Parts: sequence; structure tokens; C-alpha cells
Amino acid sequence: MTHTITLLPGDGIGPEVAAAVVGILDRAGVDIEWESCLAGAAALERHGTTLPAEVLASIRRNKVALKGPLTTPVGGGFTSVNVGLRKALDLFANLRPVWKLPSVRSRYEQVDLVIVRENTEDLYAGLEHEIVPGVIESLKIITQSASTRIARFAFEYARANGRARVTAVHKANIMKLGDGLFLDSARQVAAEYPDITFDDRIVDAMCMQLVLDPSAFDMLLLPNLYGDIVSDLCAGLVGGLGVVPGANLGDDIAVFEAVHGSAPDIAGRNIANPMALLLSALLMLRHLGEEEAADRIMLALRQVLAEGRVRTRDLGGAATTTEFADAISEHLLTPIS
Ligand code: NAI
Repeated sequence: MTHTITLLPGDGIGPEVAAAVVGILDRAGVDIEWESCLAGAAALERHGTTLPAEVLASIRRNKVALKGPLTTPVGGGFTSVNVGLRKALDLFANLRPVWKLPSVRSRYEQVDLVIVRENTEDLYAGLEHEIVPGVIESLKIITQSASTRIARFAFEYARANGRARVTAVHKANIMKLGDGLFLDSARQVAAEYPDITFDDRIVDAMCMQLVLDPSAFDMLLLPNLYGDIVSDLCAGLVGGLGVVPGANLGDDIAVFEAVHGSAPDIAGRNIANPMALLLSALLMLRHLGEEEAADRIMLALRQVLAEGRVRTRDLGGAATTTEFADAISEHLLTPIS
């Protein structure tokens, strides 16, 4: 079956890592027709906007997109294209699996966490104003409907993926109403899933416990801001932003993207690590029901990492983006004995 998928190569290192990933999926024999669209800084030059209407139309039509990093220009009143995309398409769930991969240097051997972050409200609602000079009010919006929706997403994911426990993360001891509502909503949803253990942690204690022993947790459920911060902390537990995938999911639309940004400091040099976008593409393949291809690519990636000969610079090697991608493709073509 041919899958038609919107491809946003992004900017900075985006086009380089996107080309590497598209090449690997092609060599794995997955039948994909890519609909490539410009967004971000590249679209601004050509279309005068960072998020052209045709990008949204393409994603709405195809329901699935693979997205490279997008630069948010500083100043000029530009809001984040990433936040704009999530809002426009109601991608309410941000999913980040955080695994320890072989031969990627990190402090822990055993990390297998899944982070579910609410993606639409909290302090990201963008509601800020100056009350009087020198006094700013930033509004933290927490609703029962969004909190219940994301909690249900987490428990459904747990059930579908054999996860045993969901831990809600909050600061309800201080923000008794807002975070209290998030926690109460999670508790109510948890009661419908007696097969999944539910507990909760205050966000500061959670950060400390994750750093001490990440293997003590399974799935984390967080409102938007804590989710943003804690998921980067968790990326740091397994080797950094270059190795962690992500997905932004709505009721019927899914946008898969690496967690890292457009890395302007190394753009155009063919040295970026394509692994995070590749792992995001594997989440996409599983979403599309292409489990077999996803398993084969994952095995090839694990083999390349375990051999340790071909690694990009961020992983302590000297390989280029294309050399790393080619090494994975070669393993794909080598029959398993
Ligand atoms: P960044 O993630 O682009 O870079 C941080 C550091 O990590 C840099 O030293 C960079 O060279 C390195 N790095 C990132 N990805 C790498 C990779 N795949 N391989 C090797 N090294 C890698 O974060 P920064 O500099 O804060 O943001 C740059 C731009 O990216 C900004 O305009 C920001 O708005 C945007 N951004 C976009 C995101 C998205 O599209 N989802 C997420 C985060 C930032």
C-alpha cells in the first residue's frame, strides 16, 4: 500500500537529516509518496509567511506528516511555527518515548520512559499582558476537558503498549486550583483503568527522582510547561536531544518530529545526526501499521551503534550525516544470518 505523507524538511539541518531519513525508508522498501512543503524560515523567504496555508491543507489531507526542525525567527513579532502548527491542527498530545540505545554514551544503562505532555494550553496559551509598567501577568490556562483528554490518551496508550503505570506530574500543592484540576482529572480517568497503576509526584521531586533513578518510572503524564522541561531532562538521561524522537498527535492527525531544533551552528555541513528524526519516522511507520519495516530499520540502527565504527560527531565519531545513513541502509540490505 502506498502511503501519502506530508514532508516538512524544515530549515537549518532539517533538509540534511530529512534527506537521510527519506533515503533509509526508501531502502527499507516502504512505499511512501512524499508531499514536500516549505515551512519556517524557508517559507518566509518564498511565501512571506512561516506557515503557509498549503502546509496545513496538505497535513489535513494526508493525516500524517514527518517534520524537520523549524527555526522561529527572533523578533519581528513571529510566533513559534511549531506552536502554531500544534494549535491549528489541534495536536493535543505530545508523545516522547525515551530509551537508552546501545553505545550511546549516557549516565544510565536502563532507561525506558514514555512521556505524555499536554500540548495546547497551560502557559503556552500565549496570554500575557502588562498590567502596569513593570508588572506582567502571564495566564496559565488549565481546563478539565483538555486535562481529561490527555489523561485518557495516556491510559489508552499504556493499555495498547503494555505499560503498567502512569505517574501524573504537577505542583498542586502550590497551584491548588490549576494543577489541582489537572491532577483530579487524571485521577478520575485513572479510575476507569484499574489494570494500570496510577500515582503522582510533585514536579520538583520528580526531577530529582528521575536523575537519581530513571528506571523507577514507566509513563509520565504532564501539563504543557512541566512536560516541556521534564522531557528535555529525560533526553539528557539517554544521551541528549540528538537521539530522542517525538510525535504530536490529534484525534486523526499525527505529526512526527525530532525533539531538537534547526542547529544553525552546524547547518549545511553534513555532520548532523539524523537519528532523532529517524526514530521519529519509526514511530510514524508503527502508526501506519508498517511494524515489520520499523523493526528492520531499528535492528539496523542498533547494529550500526553497537559496532561503533560509524558515528556522527555528537556521538563521539567522525562520520557525516550521509555516511551514518548509508551504514544503516547497508545493514538493511544485509540478510540476517
Ligand atoms: P538546537 O536543538 O537546534 O541546537 C542545540 C545544540 O544541539 C546545538 O549545538 C546543535 O548543534 C546541537 N544539535 C541539535 N540537533 C543536532 C543533531 N541532530 N545532530 C547533532 N547536533 C545537534 O537548539 P537551539 O539552538 O536552541 O535552536 C535553534 C533553532 O531551532 C531556533 O530557531 C529554535 O526556535 C528552533 N527549534 C525548533 C524546534 C522544532 O522545530 N521542533 C525545537 C527546538 C528549537
